[in-house]
Amino acid sequence: MIVPNHVAIIMDGNGRWATNRGLSRSAGHLEGSKTLEKIAFHALNMGVKYLSVYAFSTDNFKRSKEEVDYLMNLVVKYFKTKADKYHKKGIRILISGRKNNLSDIVLDSITKIEKLTENNTNGTLNICLNYGGQEEIIDAAKKLAEDINNGLNIKDFNRNDFYKYLYHELPPIDLLIRTGGEQRISNFMLYQLSYSEFYFTNTFFPDFDKSEFNKAIFIYENRDRRFGGINKC
Ligand code: FPP
Repeated sequence: MIVPNHVAIIMDGNGRWATNRGLSRSAGHLEGSKTLEKIAFHALNMGVKYLSVYAFSTDNFKRSKEEVDYLMNLVVKYFKTKADKYHKKGIRILISGRKNNLSDIVLDSITKIEKLTENNTNGTLNICLNYGGQEEIIDAAKKLAEDINNGLNIKDFNRNDFYKYLYHELPPIDLLIRTGGEQRISNFMLYQLSYSEFYFTNTFFPDFDKSEFNKAIFIYENRDRRFGGINKC
């Protein structure tokens, strides 16, 4: 079995999952947070080394204040209540995204969970919060420009070198899963997704269980990855 090294998930469909049940959208996000925990432990257990998830995009601030506040509070509560569990399992938690627009309470909870888990080596859960893929590339380009101004020689700078300038130096994504029926990237990890395989499912994220995850891995394993080259038969 070729387990992908880095899997990314666009956790879509929380709102529709809830609306279909006559519940508030918030109830969908809460259920999604429970699914995230199950899938994260399952994925990292099976040998996935990096799992990146899209929790809140820079554009999600366009949603109602009520929904934004709920999601931010949910994240803070999640970090507070789940930190020890992730830490005991040796999982490192990273948060990717812009720090502006986040309250001090959110920023404080990010600092705490990243610090607690920073030396863990059993796998990495990268949570994208106030995240945009184009924004990440712009922010990286600014850091690189600063280094160039300070004398960095970029004569031999290549696409692998650019990873160091992203929010965290993560490996390329092997498999992107998007739940909820839409088939688009929505400004998610554009640099790291360059040679990723894509898997789309109509299942709403709260219903995305271990067997659905296994199915995505099975399909990934049967893909012919050529990275622009030609595989010999
Ligand atoms: C997209 O579904 C989902 C989000 C914008 C939030 C994702 C958040 C979680 C799964 C849980 C919280 C995360 C953490 C780290 C605790 P949608 O709301 O756009 O669904 P819809 O397309 O059906 O409206």
